[in-house]
Amino acid sequence: MAAGWLKNAVFYEIYPQSFYDSNGDGIGDIPGITEKLDAICSLGCNALWINPCFDSPFKDAGYDVRDYKKVAPRYGTNEDLMLLFHTAHKKGIRVLLDLVPGHTSEEHPWFRESCKAEKTPYDNRYIWTDNWFRGATGLNYVGGEAERSGTYVLNFFKCQPALNYGFLRTQEPWQLPCDHPDCIATREAMKDIMRFWLDRGCDGFRVDMAASLVKFDDEKNTATSAIWRNIREMLDRDYPEAVLVAEWGDPPLALSCGFDMDFYLNGWKNGYSTLLRDYEGQEEDNSFFRAKAPARNIRRFLDTYEEWYRLTRDKGYISLITCNHDTLRPRYSLTYRELKLAYAYLFTMPGVPFLYYGDEIGMRYLNLPTKEGGYSRTGSRSPMQWGNGKNLGFSTADPELLYLPVDPAEDAPTVQAQEKDPDSLLQTVKSILHLRHSLEDLQADSEYETLCDSPYVYRRGQLILAVNPSLEETEVKIDLNGRQPIFRIGTVLTSSSGFRLEAQSFAVFQ
Ligand code: NOJ
Ligand code: CA
Repeated sequence: MAAGWLKNAVFYEIYPQSFYDSNGDGIGDIPGITEKLDAICSLGCNALWINPCFDSPFKDAGYDVRDYKKVAPRYGTNEDLMLLFHTAHKKGIRVLLDLVPGHTSEEHPWFRESCKAEKTPYDNRYIWTDNWFRGATGLNYVGGEAERSGTYVLNFFKCQPALNYGFLRTQEPWQLPCDHPDCIATREAMKDIMRFWLDRGCDGFRVDMAASLVKFDDEKNTATSAIWRNIREMLDRDYPEAVLVAEWGDPPLALSCGFDMDFYLNGWKNGYSTLLRDYEGQEEDNSFFRAKAPARNIRRFLDTYEEWYRLTRDKGYISLITCNHDTLRPRYSLTYRELKLAYAYLFTMPGVPFLYYGDEIGMRYLNLPTKEGGYSRTGSRSPMQWGNGKNLGFSTADPELLYLPVDPAEDAPTVQAQEKDPDSLLQTVKSILHLRHSLEDLQADSEYETLCDSPYVYRRGQLILAVNPSLEETEVKIDLNGRQPIFRIGTVLTSSSGFRLEAQSFAVFQ
């Protein structure tokens, strides 16, 4: 069962290089995050996920780790990160780091050692074939780069050689079984890294490509799951409050191997993206929350969600996200009003929600050239827009020194402007999150049930909630049993037979 503090957790994802630059070098940093903790608190978030902030050549924005135990100098020092943990804890905020267990950078000392022609203790830390001329069938590999006569397997980009956790079924002499001492050593090395940061105050990890450990695993990822269960045992024993959130995209599976939460990701037929952007089979965007969706149908999301919810209820949490550093920002397809309804829904659902920095003010997806292996993802990684001053308050550096340019639009949203506007998206986010914190029925564990698909009406504990994203007013015949609206967006009127929802409205009845 998941750690108790998750019951009321709302996460804020921070892409550190773009959040707040405290020393004017144009790159966001750890002290910058520490400085902004009050802003995060006032938003209603009480937990952080920070994308990789470790030493790296940054060919994949830090997902290519060169030293797992060292903060990248551009972000500060290990002491800065420990001060962040400490300050955050004093304010009631937990901090998750990003663990990349599937691969390292090609510049990691383990990999450098494993490339040597002579024997080293790291010969089997990565997946090497036994001949320079032979590649690993069915896997991406690189040859011709090392003194060693063999080719090595990749986990993602060319700069990210796959760590060796063994093979479920070994077919070639160079494939080691998962219980080979050298494969166990890889797992133990990951545990050692986790312990290093947990001992220094971090509260757990978001786990990158959690399903990717064992190659040619079976459909149920049996061998990879066994590794996570082993890691979970260590956490349960030595760090019972520590949490793990998987980048797996299969909550029933991820939760069964000891993850507290798993993200509801894209790529599934009835996927998450259908809420915020959905072009499948349509010329026009058919996102559920888009006012003019040509064929709105929440079932495209719910058929999978409800099934997963049923399967995971007593095991941990599904995490719905506004977006992340790999996906389009929701503002790409939705207006501010549409975003208010979408967030009202996402933040009143069961499980543990994640808000990506800047989505609270509706930052735009920018058309930017690729940076650090970002490609089309780069547009969702631009600097946080704090205020109206230089670089929108992100940094005092010259604009050409910025990690990425800030949104050049005249009406670029900022925290400062939206703080002053009672109708802003930021204020709506704050009031929904405030409501979530004040009512246990809106938090992670309380029961959830669909009452009506169109308009969408659902129950959380004793509360009834409803959302009408369309431009038509709609009537709902449901006995509210005397419940009254305690929160609304737009106009909602109760009647003897139920209630009426005006165009683009949302309500919570208590
Ligand atoms: C998933 C991460 O979210 C993404 O940003 C990264 O490029 C890949 N994993 C590889 O680590
Ligand atoms: Ca900086």
